[in-house]
Amino acid sequence: MRKPYVILSAAMSVDGKIATRGGDSAYSDEEDWKRVHKLRSEVDAIMVGINTILLDDSKLTSKQGKSPLRVVVDSKAKTPPNARVITVRPEVETIIAVTSKASPERISNLQKKGAKILICGDGEHVELENLMEKLFDLGVKKLMLEGGGNLNWGMLSKGLVDEIRIAISPVIVGGIEAVTLVEGEGFTRVSEGVNLELVNSEKVGKCLVLTYKILRDAERGY
Ligand SMILES: NC(=O)c1ccc[n+]([C@@H]2O[C@H](COP(=O)([O-])OP(=O)(O)OC[C@H]3O[C@@H](n4cnc5c(N)ncnc54)[C@H](OP(=O)(O)O)[C@@H]3O)[C@@H](O)[C@H]2O)c1
Repeated sequence: MRKPYVILSAAMSVDGKIATRGGDSAYSDEEDWKRVHKLRSEVDAIMVGINTILLDDSKLTSKQGKSPLRVVVDSKAKTPPNARVITVRPEVETIIAVTSKASPERISNLQKKGAKILICGDGEHVELENLMEKLFDLGVKKLMLEGGGNLNWGMLSKGLVDEIRIAISPVIVGGIEAVTLVEGEGFTRVSEGVNLELVNSEKVGKCLVLTYKILRDAERGY
């Protein structure tokens, strides 16, 4: 299929939480943020799930070099029209990926603010394969997936991720309700899991940054 090369990027605690139960996700220090901003400037698009926008009001811009296209995966067009992902640096394009079930009024309000809408399927959730094809056709050859946990599961379970870069911060936050790196339904057995190969490890500031390639699985078709 036509799809961008996808790098899943996240910062998490040693116990795998990408946010605390209170929604705090400030794991990176200044040095690690520099690495993240550099990576953002090297890709064609940055993508997040709607909850990340609603909870963090992320700008998704880069402080180094160019700021790439921003993509929000938002089936029902719940992105607030005044969200920073749309209003900060309006010259940087923002795409809201929705389904045909999204309210036309919400879509129109987002379009008035300059956001571009991509309709990806007719189901309850955005059809991610369809979105990947549409982004590829728009020229997105390298995409940075910046979470959160539910979108990470959606992308990983469909075989759409190629590489993972995780910054592990030396802290433990616990919490059964704290969002982990990958949420969703999960696999029943370890043997069903997405297999990875460690290709790099480095200390960046206080974080340990691990880079993994996804090992393709012919039986699952990816
Ligand atoms: N530390 C880090 O690196 C980092 C990075 C990013 C986020 N975070 C944290 O992660 C938390 C949010 O994570 P989250 O898991 O709650 O939400 P999320 O992954 O940001 O968003 C999930 C939502 O995306 C929408 N979506 C649409 N189509 C989908 C599909 N096919 N598969 C999966 N999701 C789809 C769904 O809502 P609809 O169906 O309604 O559209 C779903 O509920 C925040 O607390 C944020 O701070 C941390």
